[in-house]
Amino acid sequence: MTQLFTNIKELIQVRETPISFISGTAMSELPTLKNTFLLIENESIIDYGSMANVPKQADEIIDCSGRMILPTWVDSHTHIVFAGNREQEFVDRINGLSYEEIANKGGGILNSAKKLQNTSFDDLYKASAKRLEAVIKLGTGAIEIKSGYGLTVESELKMLKVIKKLKENYTIPIKATFLGAHAVPSEFKNNKKGYIDLIINEMLPKIADENLADFVDVFCEKGYFTVEDTDQILKAAKNYGLQPKIHVNQFNAIGGIKTAVAHKALSVDHLEVLTHEDITHIKSSETMPVALPSCSFFLGIPYTPARKIIDANLPIALATDYNPGSTPSGNMNFVVSLACIKLKMKPEEAINAATINAAYAVNLSDKVGSISRGKLANFFITKPISSYNFLPYSFGENLIESIYISGSKV
Ligand code: NIG
Ligand code: FE
Repeated sequence: MTQLFTNIKELIQVRETPISFISGTAMSELPTLKNTFLLIENESIIDYGSMANVPKQADEIIDCSGRMILPTWVDSHTHIVFAGNREQEFVDRINGLSYEEIANKGGGILNSAKKLQNTSFDDLYKASAKRLEAVIKLGTGAIEIKSGYGLTVESELKMLKVIKKLKENYTIPIKATFLGAHAVPSEFKNNKKGYIDLIINEMLPKIADENLADFVDVFCEKGYFTVEDTDQILKAAKNYGLQPKIHVNQFNAIGGIKTAVAHKALSVDHLEVLTHEDITHIKSSETMPVALPSCSFFLGIPYTPARKIIDANLPIALATDYNPGSTPSGNMNFVVSLACIKLKMKPEEAINAATINAAYAVNLSDKVGSISRGKLANFFITKPISSYNFLPYSFGENLIESIYISGSKV
């Protein structure tokens, strides 16, 4: 079946020749075409161009006068499989406790792990599917989802099987990341080595055996996993073909970026604290730096120095970090706004970071991230807007009128 979208005011992020990501000054160029058509067939984009050359026929014609079309957002970092919520910790923080103090009292990730361990597979699946549907309605058309709230063999597998079922039941591309090393569970409080052994000797082989993960992640941070722990886990994961995407430099720069890069990490995520040396390491790599501004917003911690990253001629991607503790929101539109407002990224840079560069950060550059022939027909049509700048400018507003995933209207 063919669908023809006509009179598109501006078709955004049109990439004639495929690129995997863009860096530095090139990030401020956002290729667009004005007054165009877009033709899709079944689940794929097959053509686009000036209205002067609009095809004569199609099975369905959708008039887009006054509206723009963008490729759907790619959310390359989420934890949407979780149980319950942490609203009490939110109130505790308002009353003066820090994220670190809450975690030290047994709250934080361990609080979510306890809840998840006591939640059935079916309930966990239902809650996660609901969140997935909600973020798709906000324009997300490809997503990465992490484990890491299980922290036992059984519960980490439960989380990854929930992600597997989401992959089976939804058409949006989903990537699964094993984050067993998210926190040291209380049973291993005085025996972190024992927990790392469990990750390496029990979790990883089972996960690989059932093909439950695409990537591996470690929370490399003071009080969580050291650089040496990270190195050990990434080494073990490599034997199962799992490429790293790691949580690093959120609160402290402890040298994790160097190790991530040495392990050919696909991305390094958070980077709220970033040294000159860290930047030098990323420069020598193919690793994508990922900023998570809605986490900084919610926790009141520093924002990732995006300008410093782009000015070093590096690429950058944006993601939500949707999770119950540090970012209870999966709204990529808000992330793009925050990137402009707080990270001082230009709208062109922010849109590039949330589409093409984000696709690279989940190894989906060949499928999503731009309007290109042969890519999936995953895009959204805006409400009538004056320019694409209006999207990040109107923060908190939903300017998406309709969404197509694999060519089907959501
Ligand atoms: O990316 N920093 C580590 N992990 C999550 C938050 C986890 C939590 O608080 O539940 C993050 O911010
Ligand atoms: Fe995270």
